[in-house]
Amino acid sequence: MQRELEPEVMDLADEVAAYAQADFSEVNAAFVERLIEHAGILDAPVCLDLGTGPGDIPLRLAKARPGWRIVGSDYSWPMLATARVANGGGTVFWLGLDAKAIPFPDAAIDVVFSNSILHHVPDPIPLWREIRRILTPGGLVFLRDLARPESRERAKAIVERYAGQESALLQAEYYRSLLAAFTVDEVRMQLDAAGLGFLQVAMASDRHLDVWRL
Ligand SMILES: C[S@@+](CC[C@H](N)C(=O)[O-])C[C@H]1O[C@@H](n2cnc3c(N)ncnc32)[C@H](O)[C@@H]1O
Repeated sequence: MQRELEPEVMDLADEVAAYAQADFSEVNAAFVERLIEHAGILDAPVCLDLGTGPGDIPLRLAKARPGWRIVGSDYSWPMLATARVANGGGTVFWLGLDAKAIPFPDAAIDVVFSNSILHHVPDPIPLWREIRRILTPGGLVFLRDLARPESRERAKAIVERYAGQESALLQAEYYRSLLAAFTVDEVRMQLDAAGLGFLQVAMASDRHLDVWRL
């Protein structure tokens, strides 16, 4: 099945509200657990979340690892506004930025992580190049995203199985996101083209792929 683009930035009021109110606690907790496993023992790393959305993942990470310095970033101001509201404790910094042109110096970030940004980006090579540029030598990368299914029927079945209880809007967005996602082979080619051939990429579930550094 060919990839079908969806809008890059999520800034429409109804989609921001629907996304911020949805319960992603299980998948987000699993993401944080995996990130911490990959990180091993790091001493107060500087971490950057790209496409943080409502910020649930960095907030969970800040609770699990209070010594880590965490920045949640997004290109959508309405999304960042929901993240700021959720912050409360003030343990995460929030930043508006385009992940394809990150306003940080070279080798400034110890841990770059992201959940579900990749399928939003029409051409992810500039994003991967930016990740390579800002990462400290030996730094950790962990990205998780949807993987494009082989057919529309399979995409519909995934929506039904994992989002059947959600609102019609969220189901439609989930379907659209599955069609916009990449395959493992496509991500492998992107990484090689961006000088990140040392990263691993593999399916992590029936609908997700992971990119990480061993
Ligand atoms: C599907 S949401 C995922 C949000 C969050 N990571 C989560 O797992 O709940 C994708 C987010 O990426 C953001 N995004 C898309 N393109 C971006 C870019 N070039 N730079 C920064 N954020 C971007 C969108 O605005 C949206 O908030």
